[in-house]
Amino acid sequence: MQKESISFIILAAGMGSRMQSKTPKVLHWVAGEPIIFHILRKILSLSNKLILKKIIIVLGHESELVKKNISSHFPGINFAIQDKQYGTAHAVLSAKDLLSNTSGKVMVLCGDTPLISIKLMLDLIKLSKTVDLGFSVFKTLNSFGYGRVVLNKLNKVFSIIEEKDANKSQKSINICNTGVYIADINLLFKLLSFVKCTSNKKEMYLTDIVDIARSEKKIIGISYSKEVESMGINDREGLAMAEKEMQNILRSKAMKNGVTLVAPETVFFSSDTKISKDVYIAPNVVFGPGVKIGEGVRIEAFCHIEGVTIKKNSSVGPFARLRPGTVLEEYSKVGNFVEIKNSKIKKGSKVNHLSYVGDADVGSNVNIGAGVITCNYDGVNKHKTTIGNDSFIGSNVSLVAPLKLGSNTLVGAGSVITKDVPNDMLAVERNKQSIIKKKKIKKSK
Ligand code: UD1
Ligand code: MG
Repeated sequence: MQKESISFIILAAGMGSRMQSKTPKVLHWVAGEPIIFHILRKILSLSNKLILKKIIIVLGHESELVKKNISSHFPGINFAIQDKQYGTAHAVLSAKDLLSNTSGKVMVLCGDTPLISIKLMLDLIKLSKTVDLGFSVFKTLNSFGYGRVVLNKLNKVFSIIEEKDANKSQKSINICNTGVYIADINLLFKLLSFVKCTSNKKEMYLTDIVDIARSEKKIIGISYSKEVESMGINDREGLAMAEKEMQNILRSKAMKNGVTLVAPETVFFSSDTKISKDVYIAPNVVFGPGVKIGEGVRIEAFCHIEGVTIKKNSSVGPFARLRPGTVLEEYSKVGNFVEIKNSKIKKGSKVNHLSYVGDADVGSNVNIGAGVITCNYDGVNKHKTTIGNDSFIGSNVSLVAPLKLGSNTLVGAGSVITKDVPNDMLAVERNKQSIIKKKKIKKSK
């Protein structure tokens, strides 16, 4: 069967003034990445079912910043600029030129709905086979802030009324507009050409196309989605609510895939966290972006892990901080109050207590004693430390980089090592211990 082709317009030009932020709303983070990334990922994942013709994001407020962030992660996205934010209908019109040579259907989405599901989009595409204009709605007990969907006596869509224009009885309607629409490209822009600014707000509402389509005798249809996936983020409370919902989704996905979460509500994932089965995660663990964890890994309580690969059967924590660029190979062990950055810890090696390992390549079966520090920064540049296989670094050693320790080396406790150590050698840097007879001191009366 031939795949259906479809274009997308994502509206992201708004000031997001209710966020009270210098950062554009769509760049605020949910589950380790900007709100808009969640929407883009879901759209792009449809490419196995549909032909994605054009994806256009409408930008306005801080457009260069938003564009830069998106382009560096998602090449091939088109951007339309809405210079002045005259409302959601005006925003869609800003994308008109980019679609002038494109035919077929277009789906319009709001850039502030990171929980939108793939199912919601597929349901709308299915609906569009039988209607001229379709949009997604949800039922809620808390409809504040959303456009209310007014149905007539025959349960057919009559119009969408925005919160600020709704009367008391309209405000009590519990069916709300998700802000995701589908129509033929030509029809959409025809309907939009009739949208006027409202007298009080000087805004062009996209929601007005419903009234216009009705008066043009077009068939309008709705598809119901879940409240959680329809949530639009307008303020910081909305951001926190979206984070909560997103975390619940990620936690239950992890548990379904065979991960033990002792206290799920205290574990925070990023949307790209990849965890294999039989991983054990104790309470209060945070995963920043870019984490991959292999089978059988144990992560004890109070760890912060970001940009890290942990291979199978390793253990981490409690109280460990693993920073970007770190790879822990199989059966390695990182213990309490250890920080590791941009380093490789090879198979079976241990960094068990109170250490900092940065910009290091640690061989296999190495033991790094308590309080070892790789002094990787000279105030200007960062330098590398290499430790060969089967070495033993005693407690409280400072390894001043750049530095190479061969394999099977032994470094005496308390040493400050500044010169390379060849294979199989012992290095110790320490003043000779003196034993001096204690003077008897008489206690003063
Ligand atoms: C909008 C809908 C509302 C729906 C809700 C769902 C309108 C008039 N209202 O309200 O019915 O229930 O979304 O979340 O459409 N934007 C622009 N340019 C503008 C104005 C907005 O690009 O001039 C963008 C924003 O950046 C945002 C999206 O459009 O990503 C929605 O705007 P927002 O102000 O959040 O609309 P809501 O009040 O949430
Ligand atoms: Mg909104």
